[in-house]
Amino acid sequence: MIKIISLFFVSFFSVKSFAQPILNIVPQPQIVELKDGYFSLDKNVSIQFSSDQNDLKKLAGYTQTQLRNRFGIDISQNKNTTRRIEFSITRDSLIRGEEGYSLNVSPSKIIIAANNSKGIFYGIQTLLQTIPFEGRKEIPSLFIKDKPRFAWRGMMLDVSRQFFTVKEVKEFLDIMATYKLNVFHWHLIDDQGWRLEIKQYPKLTSVGAWRMENPKAVFYQKDSLLKGPYKKYGGFYTQKDARDIIAYAQQRNITVIPEIELPGHSQAALAAYPQFSCRQQPQAVATAAGDPPGSSSNYCPGSDSTFTFLENILTEIMDIFPSKYIHIGGDEVDKTEWKNDPKCQTLIKEKNLKNEEGLQSYFIHRIAQFLTQHGKTIIGWDETLQGGLAPNALVQSWRGIKGGIEAAQLHHEVIMSPANPLYFNRYQGDPKTEPMAAKWSVNTLKKVYEYEPVPTELDAANAGFIIGAEGAIWTEFFKTNREVQYMILPRLLALSELTWSEAKDKNWDNFLNKMRYQFKLFELEKWNYDKKDLNFEMKK
Ligand code: ACM
Repeated sequence: MIKIISLFFVSFFSVKSFAQPILNIVPQPQIVELKDGYFSLDKNVSIQFSSDQNDLKKLAGYTQTQLRNRFGIDISQNKNTTRRIEFSITRDSLIRGEEGYSLNVSPSKIIIAANNSKGIFYGIQTLLQTIPFEGRKEIPSLFIKDKPRFAWRGMMLDVSRQFFTVKEVKEFLDIMATYKLNVFHWHLIDDQGWRLEIKQYPKLTSVGAWRMENPKAVFYQKDSLLKGPYKKYGGFYTQKDARDIIAYAQQRNITVIPEIELPGHSQAALAAYPQFSCRQQPQAVATAAGDPPGSSSNYCPGSDSTFTFLENILTEIMDIFPSKYIHIGGDEVDKTEWKNDPKCQTLIKEKNLKNEEGLQSYFIHRIAQFLTQHGKTIIGWDETLQGGLAPNALVQSWRGIKGGIEAAQLHHEVIMSPANPLYFNRYQGDPKTEPMAAKWSVNTLKKVYEYEPVPTELDAANAGFIIGAEGAIWTEFFKTNREVQYMILPRLLALSELTWSEAKDKNWDNFLNKMRYQFKLFELEKWNYDKKDLNFEMKK
């Protein structure tokens, strides 16, 4: 008898531990209930949706492609098959919010229900992650109800320091979409390259998109390595490319936010149009990090023509990007040039500004006002707090969380991107064994995973101003797409879970267990990733 009981327990637990590993879903859904039986996914399955729903038809096509590419399974649309995957737009109040969904798997039917196609898209992502890679494609019967914790689940890519092709950007978006991130912050402009065609100012790309460099040199070592044959390096996106990327992102539930840096980090633009700097001297596009002496990286607010130039650029930007938000940068402005410029000093007096910080605030306010008049809202890095925020401006806190706290207390919406731990250009493991990366902190997978976007310093009323978090990859060190992927994977999955899942549903050990499945997915998709990172975490 004892033997029988113990056998019972063994099999009970082994069944349980057999069922558990199949749920490798990242980000962790809110409610998961496992049931008996399974749905067998094979070519005798059809996706059903109401044919007057064009967006559902697109999503059905997307699902078919994913199933074919990932698992080699071909399924049909709206055919009379015994087993079916149903997309259902409902007004079910149980499925809350814009992006929530439910996924119901039973042996004969899979139903993905949501209030709109965004939720259906996320239901599809979850469903795809329930399919085993090995053996028969049997999806356990289950019920999942899910919605995101934060509305802003972002990732920034710097395409100025290195240029990435449209195809590579799309692959970046595919990775984001797989893990339910919904904001692509496109860092299009910096000292080292202007990367978007602006029709009224063609030199921004004919001049500003190109720099001379030694192709072998890693960015931060350039000063010492800039010997030997220089090559022209660069590239840019046409407006058609940008629209193509925006449409691709839109189909994946991702909003594209362009960042048009001002007033600093503008050396490339000023290489093309030096008349909008205070020095007004010819200069080259930056080839190294920082501000090389003898060049301008700030626009000159002392001349009204600078604002006309920027407003004309922003008019084209607003025409290309449908997003409500435009990121205007505002970080790391060295104000020495303004200090020495008589026109800037006159403006400070005229406008009764305190100093150069006041001038920066005046600059940002003026641009914000222009964008607001056109129905847009600005986002600025936390330096835009200096001298006073523009009305309605969103703040992206990168120099830690202090700026984010201050902005939330001022009742401005905040995106949390503290460089430690959300900059993925920083080391993810022991710097002695990792390829060169930014050294300012070691942002391990675990550290990213454990990051909580809402600071304890905020009371409940102000906590609501934290609308989400964003990871970033600056590309000074990373010349290729594969290097970028190595830096963001698997850390992007930790970002996904901390922005989507409720804090109480996060569990580090479970997350690590899920990585075995996720790493297989990376391999299948041919996404490069850091395997060592997991070993590094496990050893600790
Ligand atoms: C930044 O990292 N300078 C925003």
